[in-house]
Amino acid sequence: MLTKIIRAADEKGIEAAAKLSAKVIRRGGLVALPTETVYGLGANALDKEAVNKIFAAKGRPQDNPLIVHVSGIEMAKNLLADIPPLAYKLSEKFWPGPLTMIMQKRDVIPDTVSAGLDTIGVRMPKSAAFLRTIEESGVPIAAPSANTSGKPSPTTAQHVYDDLNGKIDLIVDGGSCSVGIESTVVDITGDIPVILRPGAITPSDIASVAGAAEVSQNVLKEAEEGKAPPSPGMKYKHYSPSADVILVQGSDDGFKRFISSIDNNTAVVCFSEDAGRIKHDCFVLGDKHNHAMQAARLFDILREIDKCGYKNAYIRLPDMDGIGLALYNRLIRAASFRVIDCDKVIN
Ligand code: TXA
Ligand code: MG
Repeated sequence: MLTKIIRAADEKGIEAAAKLSAKVIRRGGLVALPTETVYGLGANALDKEAVNKIFAAKGRPQDNPLIVHVSGIEMAKNLLADIPPLAYKLSEKFWPGPLTMIMQKRDVIPDTVSAGLDTIGVRMPKSAAFLRTIEESGVPIAAPSANTSGKPSPTTAQHVYDDLNGKIDLIVDGGSCSVGIESTVVDITGDIPVILRPGAITPSDIASVAGAAEVSQNVLKEAEEGKAPPSPGMKYKHYSPSADVILVQGSDDGFKRFISSIDNNTAVVCFSEDAGRIKHDCFVLGDKHNHAMQAARLFDILREIDKCGYKNAYIRLPDMDGIGLALYNRLIRAASFRVIDCDKVIN
């Protein structure tokens, strides 16, 4: 299949891209669309056949449900069996934006979308090209991240092209994604909201609206074998470059000392503050305390490591406050839960 690319740089471009995307969506095709988090691979959420094509193009396990993108809470109402009052409050505060809410679904949503669960995640994305595509097509759009399953999520149209050229109909190029990591996923079907995947909207952001918020145990830990995690996505190895990743925690001096002992065939990912202090070539994740900057660069760096042909990578671990929790959640999976303490290794 020929994959077309259309740029959506200004208002005119966005309009043209949305018209074309809507046409493809309506006839059951696949379109990669920019969002503020990562690029999504969209199909008509009400069309089972179209949704099946998403799983095939990504090589995604059939038991991992998709997020349904809507133009607002009004559209979401038609897809949901039960909308808790909290959904209105959270959507008012955080939509359009990087928040996905898990709620009970109605039958109009095919089981393929929810992977057989009786709930779905719904989100209103911020990107104009995506929102206009939903409006033009008149249907909700199911969209997982537009990467090959298991690879780092795509934050540019080039990343999508690298993974899915020839497998999808259209890529809308809306530039780099500003947030850079996937939305916060929160289950609001119970009394207290439970965060299943941390993102740019933090647990304290949710608690500021809901009064309280829990973070699922599985966010930081490896899923236990034989036990179903609360979100199917938690079981899969995610966000991984081909290179073998090990996370490094510890002091600035310990990091400098540790890096001085490793060879040049190993990639190093560090903070801006480290870059001037170490002799090794490095990828700069961002300023030590600027988690938003680190999030925006993370997936691009993971892909660059592979492009440069590195077989191994050491990545300095950011602290866990605020968006740091989301970074930790992605990094710990990219590293298959391997962390070393640079203050304790003896060179
Ligand atoms: O920012 C984002 O959320 C991006 C953009 C495109 O919107 N989408 C995205 O989708 O990251 P995806 O499919 O890569 O990740 C969706 C995650 C998966 O871990 C999945 O298991 C979980 O959300 N999920 C979806 N529906 C669920 C449900 N009903 N119950 C529990 N977890 C669910
Ligand atoms: Mg994904």
